[in-house]
Amino acid sequence: MSSALRYVQIGVGGFGQHWCTQVLPRLGRLGLAEPVAAVDINPAVLPKASEQLGLSANQLFTDARAAIEQTRPDFATVVVPPAHHEQIIDLAVEYGCHILSEKPIADSIAACCRIYRKVKQAGLKMAVTMSHRFDQDKQTLERRVKSGRYGRLDYVVGRNTWTCRRRGQWGEFRYDIPDALLIEGTVHHFDIMRALAGANARRVHCRTWNPEWSEFKGDCQGLMLVEMANGVNVFYEGAKANATTLNNWGQDYWRAECELATLELDNRRLRILSDLEGERQCQEVPLDEQDAWINPWLAELFVNWLNGASPPPNTLDDNIHCAALLFAAIESAHTGRVIDVPAFLDEHMDRVK
Ligand SMILES: NC(=O)c1ccc[n+]([C@@H]2O[C@H](COP(=O)([O-])OP(=O)(O)OC[C@H]3O[C@@H](n4cnc5c(N)ncnc54)[C@H](O)[C@@H]3O)[C@@H](O)[C@H]2O)c1
Repeated sequence: MSSALRYVQIGVGGFGQHWCTQVLPRLGRLGLAEPVAAVDINPAVLPKASEQLGLSANQLFTDARAAIEQTRPDFATVVVPPAHHEQIIDLAVEYGCHILSEKPIADSIAACCRIYRKVKQAGLKMAVTMSHRFDQDKQTLERRVKSGRYGRLDYVVGRNTWTCRRRGQWGEFRYDIPDALLIEGTVHHFDIMRALAGANARRVHCRTWNPEWSEFKGDCQGLMLVEMANGVNVFYEGAKANATTLNNWGQDYWRAECELATLELDNRRLRILSDLEGERQCQEVPLDEQDAWINPWLAELFVNWLNGASPPPNTLDDNIHCAALLFAAIESAHTGRVIDVPAFLDEHMDRVK
């Protein structure tokens, strides 16, 4: 364990529990990294994390600065709500720590661009855990689409619809923030679109709204069209206040219309269909297998990167294009305009030069 990197886990309530039980213990078992502190502004959640991570009382903090100052970790893991990401990342930059952060980079395009500049200027490494793109079912679909066996990709249809209209059915803070669907939900699906298409977005036209029966303050339903830079089109439906959960987290619907076959992923079943030979050919494909998926896999790739391996696919350099699509979609939803995504990113990046 002597060569293991040292980290501080920031945010251990909510999704931090996934980190403390599924992600971080695995890094320890692999001998890749060991915790030196856990931080949460809510002291009530610290004892559980202490037990899960094997930390003693003097390694628990309610203040991220004190934790980083006293333990000087190699990297920090950031699992606090998006509006707090920048303040934590600023601290990591100040103390020269690499960063593995939960999505989205931040809660505004301005903050995302500031973070991008600060991390790059400091010469630090940062990656963003876009969990769902790296799930077993989406990775199997992506690998199949990119295999070339089914010809060129024409367009993609995606759906993630859920019944969580009552406060608390999804994490509490999401009922109070603006654009909850896009910031906290569709951000994952934007990244999946980019992965399936193998390109960043060129233009987005998005419409969001909030039905009377929802307890969200911000818009929680949306439809959109995204045109990718390589000409692939994407149609997407996202909803949190429907009467039926058709495709919840981890069970989402993606259909990739390729030149020679339709690849349909629905509730973790992948089917490949074609009528081109006359009668319908339909083949159900087993999902790929590997040791770990989503955040446990991404954390391993991140530490390997810090140790000199190639960059993982979810670096800040990659993820800034996901943030650009996210906030361009929000701009489209607020204005009704079609947004040119690269121009939108350039404009905001220029403002923080
Ligand atoms: N990748 C995924 O699938 C996934 C799923 C859920 C949440 N998330 C992300 O995880 C992050 C946290 O979301 P959540 O659902 O856990 O939120 P949450 O509100 O349930 O929990 C956040 C925790 O952070 C603590 N906290 C807040 N500000 C802090 C600060 N400045 N310093 C230290 N601790 C602080 C809170 O006390 C709380 O315990 C968000 O970025 C969210 O988007 C990702």
